[in-house]
Amino acid sequence: MKTKIAIIGAGPSGLLLGQLLHKAGIDNVVIERRSAKYVLGRIRAGILEYGFVDLMREAGVHTRMDAEGLRHDGFEIAIGEDRTRIDLHGLTAGKSVLVYGQTEVTRDLMEARIGAGLPTHYECEVIELRGLNTGKPTVVFRSDHEDCVLECDYIAGCDGFHGVSRRSIPGDTLREHEKVYPFGWLGLLSDTRPASDELIYNKSDRGFALCSMRSESRSRHYLQVPLSEKVEDWSDDRFWDELKARVPADVASTLETGPSLEKSIAPLRSFVAEPLQYGRLFLAGDAGHIVPPTGAKGLNLAASDISTLFTLLVSIYEQGRTDLIERYSETCLRRIWKAERFSWWMTTMLHHLDGTDIDRKLIDAELDYYLNSEAGLTTIAENYVGLPFDRLE
Ligand code: APR
Ligand code: PHB
Repeated sequence: MKTKIAIIGAGPSGLLLGQLLHKAGIDNVVIERRSAKYVLGRIRAGILEYGFVDLMREAGVHTRMDAEGLRHDGFEIAIGEDRTRIDLHGLTAGKSVLVYGQTEVTRDLMEARIGAGLPTHYECEVIELRGLNTGKPTVVFRSDHEDCVLECDYIAGCDGFHGVSRRSIPGDTLREHEKVYPFGWLGLLSDTRPASDELIYNKSDRGFALCSMRSESRSRHYLQVPLSEKVEDWSDDRFWDELKARVPADVASTLETGPSLEKSIAPLRSFVAEPLQYGRLFLAGDAGHIVPPTGAKGLNLAASDISTLFTLLVSIYEQGRTDLIERYSETCLRRIWKAERFSWWMTTMLHHLDGTDIDRKLIDAELDYYLNSEAGLTTIAENYVGLPFDRLE
């Protein structure tokens, strides 16, 4: 089996790259460990930056997103009863974000791939990458207990945090930076009206809570919980009662509650691997970095890696620009570290943290400063809508 680009992983990173490459006439094969149904069953964030939206348009996969996505021109930060609106549109010269779930993005990309008849091998686990420093690397994957080999020119490691790609970079080359937070997010998805027209990030004495949504009739809410909590101990009633206790009183009084469609606990982590390129392997998306979800940067960061990788591969195939390969890691990392900083900042400002009294007072003062200064609000807004994609040269 042979292709130009072997893409490992059929999450949003792998599928988006595959679609862009297909449109540019560059052959690619996607190999995914799980079934398509399993991939679509994972509930993830749902805020798209304008840069992500533009890339979906470039990939020609935008019809449903444009029709069903909800444009949000602002969001709120509530500290107890005190609500501040971040006017994204006004503070960023007209930019906004789009509420459209990652599940829907993935579904649209999967359908486009099927429609174009592109090769995707589901339920095939990649077990080894060979010859990364040669002109003809290979990907070894297991299909129905049989080992298969895919020969290619380049490998896109889009296989998430637990994938095989990052582990294929030798230990003396790879550096990993990591911070694990001492709490998680308990999320609940329900067919209920959203708490408000816009998202509300709530800081309360009982911990952080987020009121988000997927559509005008589907809500996604989160509660900060200790890592020791078990999802089985959270009945729907307990979740809704705790949420009401963490949001402003008028939000609580009109909050529509209902049965959960999904409920899960996710840990919070900041993680960056360096470099993101080794020989003919490129890491993109969660394979190379993780952000805590506060600020919804994970999916969007994957898109900027994919944009850079796509530009690079097109430059190689159309202009023979292999000299740009060594620019990949540095170009992606500049933007990644800024998104890591913003996600860490939002997490630190809004969660209930153990620590000394003075730590908490300093954080309260910093947040008070940002929320009451035009410069502070602008900083939050421009990071939230997404910083511009960096160019390779
Ligand atoms: N072989 C084949 N596929 C693999 C392997 C392997 N050895 N290891 C992992 N995979 C697959 C996973 O099953 C998964 O479907 O790679 C895919 C990676 O997808 P994601 O984890 O969704 O990562 P990515 O596409 O980079 O998406 C980034 O997802 O986690 C969120 O916050 C993140 O929103 C961001 C987005
Ligand atoms: C979500 O809707 O899942 C979501 C929204 C915003 C965030 C994180 C998650 O910051």
